[in-house]
Amino acid sequence: MASPIQNVASCLITFCILLSYLAIPATGKNNNFDRKTLQIGKQKISHFRVYWHDITSGPSPTSVPIVKPFDKDSPTLFGAIQMMDNPLTEGPDVKSKLIGRAQGFYGSAAQEDLSYLVSMNFAFCEGKYNGSTIAIMGRNDIFTKVREMPVIGGSGLFRFARGYVEASTHSLNLKTGYAVVLYNVYVMHY
Ligand SMILES: *[C@@H]1O[C@H](CO)[C@@H](O)[C@H](O)[C@H]1NC(C)=O
Repeated sequence: MASPIQNVASCLITFCILLSYLAIPATGKNNNFDRKTLQIGKQKISHFRVYWHDITSGPSPTSVPIVKPFDKDSPTLFGAIQMMDNPLTEGPDVKSKLIGRAQGFYGSAAQEDLSYLVSMNFAFCEGKYNGSTIAIMGRNDIFTKVREMPVIGGSGLFRFARGYVEASTHSLNLKTGYAVVLYNVYVMHY
């Protein structure tokens, strides 16, 4: 026959098991969210163009080296990493209307060709997109005419975003390192 202590213990265990069943739906498995609260309407696709300015020299560079290439003689600067806070503008002129900033980094990720791993957020500061962001991560082989990189997510108006960008160099000054790149952005969101 079970002792009183064993009875108390088995009661306690039963109680804990019951409690965990009650607790799980409330925390881990609640599917009863409201689409309105999450501002999920109809899925749409947006397309827009911005010019991305990578200013690497002069008195106020927007893109700075943070990691040197492992081998300074590497023709592709393999291993070098650049951190940027690049302006995104409406037109190719850097003084045209500011749409947002491209914040993140790119690093030389190839030994044989000039190809970067790019990881950046487009943080918008204009119109209805003000305060919203999209996250871009992909491979940029910079001397190809059009480079495609995935949009892997977003915030604000771009929650649940996915899509891609097409980047094409508008101008490149090899002396100063100043590059202007046109980004065509195609993004699905709600
Ligand atoms: C964007 O949002 C910020 C913060 O809410 C605000 O200060 C700024 O004036 C807004 N800019 C535009 C162009 O609406």
